[in-house]
Amino acid sequence: MKLLDGRVALVTGASHGIGRAVAKMYADSGAYVLALSRSHDTLHETVDDISRRGGRADAIIADLADPSAANDLAARILQQVGKLDILVANAAMLGPMARLAETDGAAWEEVFNLNLHGNFRLVKALDPLLQESDAGRAIFVSSGVARTCKAGWGAYAASKAALEALAKIYANETIDTNLRVNVVDPGRVRTAMRAAAYPYEHPMTLPAPEDMTGVFLELASPQCAHHGETLKA
Ligand SMILES: NC(=O)c1ccc[n+]([C@@H]2O[C@H](COP(=O)([O-])OP(=O)(O)OC[C@H]3O[C@@H](n4cnc5c(N)ncnc54)[C@H](OP(=O)(O)O)[C@@H]3O)[C@@H](O)[C@H]2O)c1
Repeated sequence: MKLLDGRVALVTGASHGIGRAVAKMYADSGAYVLALSRSHDTLHETVDDISRRGGRADAIIADLADPSAANDLAARILQQVGKLDILVANAAMLGPMARLAETDGAAWEEVFNLNLHGNFRLVKALDPLLQESDAGRAIFVSSGVARTCKAGWGAYAASKAALEALAKIYANETIDTNLRVNVVDPGRVRTAMRAAAYPYEHPMTLPAPEDMTGVFLELASPQCAHHGETLKA
C-alpha cells in the first residue's frame, strides 16, 4: 500500500522544475496525477515519464494567467477522474527584477495575475471538490523572499507575500473541515526560474528538484496534521 493510493492530485506548473518533480513523486506514491501547464510538449514529457514508470497521469493544458482558465476546471476534473483530493498551486513567474520605481506597471500586474490571482481563481473553482474529499489538501508554493522582501524582487516578492496571506485566510476558513492548507518554501532549487534569478550561480551547487519533494508528500498525505503553516523543503 502506497501513501497516496486512491488520491487524485492536481499539480500546476508540472512541465518543469519543482512541479514536474512533485508530479512524478506523487505518481510514484500511488496518486493519479493531473499535470497542468501551458506547454503541450514538455507537459507530455512529464505525463509520459509517469506512465513509463507505471504511474497514472493526465495532462491539462491551461494558461492560469487567463482569467477564464479555471472556469471549467472542476467540471473537467470530475469528468476525467471523478474527484480531487490534492491541489499543489505551484505555477508562477519571476517577472521583472527591478526596483519598484523602475518596474513597469503592466509587468507588475502580469506577475500578480499569475502568482496571486491565478491561485485565487483556482481556490474558488476547486474548493467544492477539495471540501468533498475525506482528506483534501491544498499546498501553495511560495518563496523565502515573501518574508525577506529583498530589494529589487518587487512584484515576485510582493505577490508571494500576498499568496501566503491568501493561504492563511483559506486555512482559517477551513479550520473545521477535513481540508489541510499549507505553504511550502522550496528554498534554493536547480530550475529555470532560479537560473533566471541568479544567472551567475553555478546550477550544480543547488539541490535538484527531485531532492526536495519530501515535504510535498508529508503535506499531501491523508495523515497530514499541519494546517496554516509554512514549511521549508
Ligand atoms: N527554484 C527555486 O529556487 C525556487 C525558490 C523559491 C520558490 N520557488 C517557487 O517554486 C515554484 C516552481 O518554480 P520552479 O523553480 O520549478 O520554476 P520553473 O522551472 O520556471 O517552472 C515553472 C512552471 O510553471 C508553469 N507556468 C508558468 N506560467 C504558467 C501559466 N501562466 N499557466 C500555467 N502554468 C504556468 C511552467 O510551465 P509552462 O511554461 O509550460 O506553462 C512551469 O511548469 C514557483 O512557485 C516558484 O516561485 C522556486
